[in-house]
Amino acid sequence: MYVCMCYGVTDKAIMQAVEDHGAGNLRELREVMEIGSQCGKCISMTQQIIDSTIIDESLFREVC
Ligand code: FES
Repeated sequence: MYVCMCYGVTDKAIMQAVEDHGAGNLRELREVMEIGSQCGKCISMTQQIIDSTIIDESLFREVC
C-alpha cells in the first residue's frame, strides 16, 4: 500500500530500505529515499513501519 502519496512510496519500499540500508528512523530513511518532506501526513505511519520491520527482523534473528 502507498504510505507517502506525495512521493509514491509504498510500505514494501520502506521495509526494503530498512533491511537493505539499516534505516532506523525517518532521518536515516530520507538518506536513501524521498519521503515525508512535502505534506508530512505520512511521517507517523512511516515510523511505525520502520519500528515494526526492525522488530520483525530481530525476532527472525533470534529464531535462526
Ligand atoms: S504523504 Fe508523505 S509527504 Fe505527503
